[in-house]
Amino acid sequence: MSQISSFDFDGEMFDIGGERYLRTGELLTEQDIADLKKKDAIYFGAIGDPRIKPGILEQGILLKMRAVFDEYINLRPVTSWFPFVPLKREVPFDIHILRENTEDFYMGAGGKFGPSFSEKKNADGSYDSSVSVQRGMYNIGLHLNARASDDDDFAYEVGLLSRKGITRFADYAFQYAQKRGEDRVTLVDKANVITNNYGFQREIFQQKADEYGMKLDFMFVDAMSMAMIVRPETFGTVAVPNLFGDILTDLGAQLQGGLGMGGSGNINPHGLSMFEPIHGSAPDIAGQGKANPIAAVLAAQMLLDNQDFPEEGKMLRAAVRHVLDTNQTTPDLGGKLKTKEVGQAMCKYILNQKR
Ligand code: IPM
Ligand code: MN
Repeated sequence: MSQISSFDFDGEMFDIGGERYLRTGELLTEQDIADLKKKDAIYFGAIGDPRIKPGILEQGILLKMRAVFDEYINLRPVTSWFPFVPLKREVPFDIHILRENTEDFYMGAGGKFGPSFSEKKNADGSYDSSVSVQRGMYNIGLHLNARASDDDDFAYEVGLLSRKGITRFADYAFQYAQKRGEDRVTLVDKANVITNNYGFQREIFQQKADEYGMKLDFMFVDAMSMAMIVRPETFGTVAVPNLFGDILTDLGAQLQGGLGMGGSGNINPHGLSMFEPIHGSAPDIAGQGKANPIAAVLAAQMLLDNQDFPEEGKMLRAAVRHVLDTNQTTPDLGGKLKTKEVGQAMCKYILNQKR
């Protein structure tokens, strides 16, 4: 990139991930956090390792990073990268999903009780279970005293939304839609069942819509998953709480050609943001040169845009368009190239553009 633009890139590699965890037992350490804080942005590879119990790396590294850096917006564009859109109708779309990234059912707040957990039983037969959540915005301790007939075990997970959390999410969504020249935001939820959380969220979004003089459309997540397939072109900026956002954005990635096509930005508008592909580490094909690099390239493009290098970001997008148009792709897109070769084709294209 430095050969064709004034963009000066000084990167430091951090050995954070499954390999180091297996070697040293470390996940995201205090030292890592302090070192990362000095950077302008984080470019994150994919996480997941079949040798490690699911949840450990995800919670200890990825979700922790999103939480400690308070990256409360997860931007996941869903763009029609023809001809890889698997829909029958060839209609262009460019949905920008804003997934709330710090609250909801992703706070790790929950517990279990019942006869199999009798070591936790109180003298009076009840179970105490406490969760504490410490965030920049607030600290909360939740205390549950459960009393249940002794014939079954129970598990629960608390989904929390805060007024401050919803408010900053809504502000970001309306401002984002405004910047895109749109007059509305679509809010996705399940307010007909999870009435406390999502009813509260609707109220605050509605107030914000009025404040910004913009429209607000409500969609239930089940209907939204159909609508994204039936009429994707009708959506612009879409705000979704964390868990449903996780699910809808895999659907979104597939709509643009597969998980190998989805970039993602974990954004703290006033702090350190982190960019990553939506996909995981794909251990089944690791090291074989089969992985589609486009999602990672699109994550880099989002990083460039975020750091105020829009021209450079455009070059990366153009390079993606070029390899798609010339069939220089990995097997998941029907091509014959290896991961590295697709990357080389993109570099070559970018360099040629400038001559
Ligand atoms: C994603 C991933 C993560 C998530 C996992 C790995 C914890 O699926 O970035 O979408 O659920 O957010
Ligand atoms: Mn996901």
